[in-house]
Amino acid sequence: MFRTHNCGELRIQNAGTQVTLCGWVQRVRNKGGVMWVDVRDRYGITQLVMEEGKTSPELMEAAKKLGREFVIQATGKVAERYAKNDTMPTGDIEIWAEEINVLNEAKLPPFLIEDETDGGEDLRMKYRYLDLRRNPVRNALQLRHTMLQKTRQYLDKQDFIEVETPVLIKSTPEGARDFVVPSRMNPGEFYALPQSPQTFKQLLMVSGFDKYFQIVKCFRDEDLRADRQPEFTQIDCEMSFVEQEDVLATFEGLVRYLFKEVKGIEIGDIPQMEYADAMRLYGSDKPDIRFGMPFVELNKVAQGKGFTVFDSAELVVGIVAPKAANYSRKQLDALTNFVKKPQVGAKGLVYVKYNEDGSFKSSVDKFYTQADLQLWADTMQATPGDLMLVLSGDITPTRTALSALRLHMGDLLQLKNPEEFKLLWVVDFPLLEWDDETKRYHAMHHPFTSPQKADMPLLDTNPGKVRANAYDLVINGVEVGGGSIRIHDKPTQELMFKHLGFTKEEAQAQFGFLMEAFEYGAPPHGGIAFGFDRLCSLFGGSDSIRDYIAFPKNNAGRDVMIDSPSPIATAQLNELAIKLA
Ligand code: AMO
Repeated sequence: MFRTHNCGELRIQNAGTQVTLCGWVQRVRNKGGVMWVDVRDRYGITQLVMEEGKTSPELMEAAKKLGREFVIQATGKVAERYAKNDTMPTGDIEIWAEEINVLNEAKLPPFLIEDETDGGEDLRMKYRYLDLRRNPVRNALQLRHTMLQKTRQYLDKQDFIEVETPVLIKSTPEGARDFVVPSRMNPGEFYALPQSPQTFKQLLMVSGFDKYFQIVKCFRDEDLRADRQPEFTQIDCEMSFVEQEDVLATFEGLVRYLFKEVKGIEIGDIPQMEYADAMRLYGSDKPDIRFGMPFVELNKVAQGKGFTVFDSAELVVGIVAPKAANYSRKQLDALTNFVKKPQVGAKGLVYVKYNEDGSFKSSVDKFYTQADLQLWADTMQATPGDLMLVLSGDITPTRTALSALRLHMGDLLQLKNPEEFKLLWVVDFPLLEWDDETKRYHAMHHPFTSPQKADMPLLDTNPGKVRANAYDLVINGVEVGGGSIRIHDKPTQELMFKHLGFTKEEAQAQFGFLMEAFEYGAPPHGGIAFGFDRLCSLFGGSDSIRDYIAFPKNNAGRDVMIDSPSPIATAQLNELAIKLA
């Protein structure tokens, strides 16, 4: 037997017991005649102790040669500690070592295996297996494990059946690029890795599975950010004989269960907001509603006073930054620079300080009187001491820029409480989205999403105005999940493809299998998929989903540990009938 106990479980009650532990050397302290060795495993740290006179000289000598991260097996007797350490669960005891076997030596690790490490991101990614020894990283994966188990528990109880769908498939258009896999047996042909199991879960509904889920890897070749990985995990779900409200209620249940079981938090009912309102009030389809600062449109009060920038704008819109009228010149310049960044894209920023004495000081004093600015303040419901920040221009880019500014102000004014969770369903998404580059409409969610019945007549006259039965779950400004009620008949699906610019032949070639299935008794159905990594990172309180993935890719999509992607041998390329340009 390698060990009798793990390194996290011994307590004062075990005093006097003979034990054997295995683990990694966290550190060795040598103080004159006394030596301590901290031994660590996944469960905790236990202190070994040796003392000249009590411990054999051979063991003392051997212990001096132990290095950080050596793998050891130690045997000895548990004793109450003289100086207790109440910061660690095993802090009341120590083991009087009688024997220490080195099971394996270790090179000096390239960074400290401690909660606070000196290793930079790149180094830690290269030696991810060492990084995973650190508590915060291991805890993140422990959280992920718990979330996985709780999710399965809940969905199983609700009669969902977990079905695995294939990984080598044909491309599903979800808006991103596919990763493709060449087929040796079919030269010149490729599989695609699924961006999601969308069409398969719909086919399972046609098969009568009624309630399906899968915790599944999805693959998307898109630009990476903190909340995006090329391979990520979804909790993918589908149900038959449901309307939108049924789907929302079921998955509100799942999310409520996870918050309660994993974090001990009651989330209450999740409010719904129409997409159009989210855009109008927050300039975003995923508003962070932990704080207010809604947009206020100012066209009526700000136009027609000779300020041509505003007069020529489609939209003049602002937010009130509470208690920020005392911002210095430097702080205001920094805000202007912020909105002018290419990622934000505004041309400039107008500010109005509503001073405590009731007067106004603005960057547009030349054009507006104190009475004019009072009208702005009234419209925006600003109070003395507040700072009004106003942008103008075309509707969509102006809203997008103000949304970025609002979130930035939320950070600066510390309005985003990391302990607080504000959930929101965004509903009534548009069905289609115009793409200026390709000069055609794209499905905003995906081509299988059903239009709202009432808006169907608009498909021919004003396609951009058609709303879909589509919804997103947003938590603290993060899009955690999205889904829709699906089209389940061939004519509507054909109509949809037509509006997306597919010829009949193209639609048939790509999705004939699905449309054919719809002719064999497809039930009405709908579903949702949650970004599982994002959900974990929200629960864990981190902005980066990487922390919750055991072996993530870096921002360039590389796994720097195994060095992938990498070239393959010419023989392999030949076998696959691939010629590199
Ligand atoms: P959607 O494309 O909205 O819907 O994806 C669902 C959720 O998956 C998460 N997500 C990601 N997480 C990490 N890295 C990525 N690259 C990434 N891309 C998406 C998001 C998102 O909300 N088949 C549909 C679902 C349905 O209609 O049922 C789908 O995949 O949190």
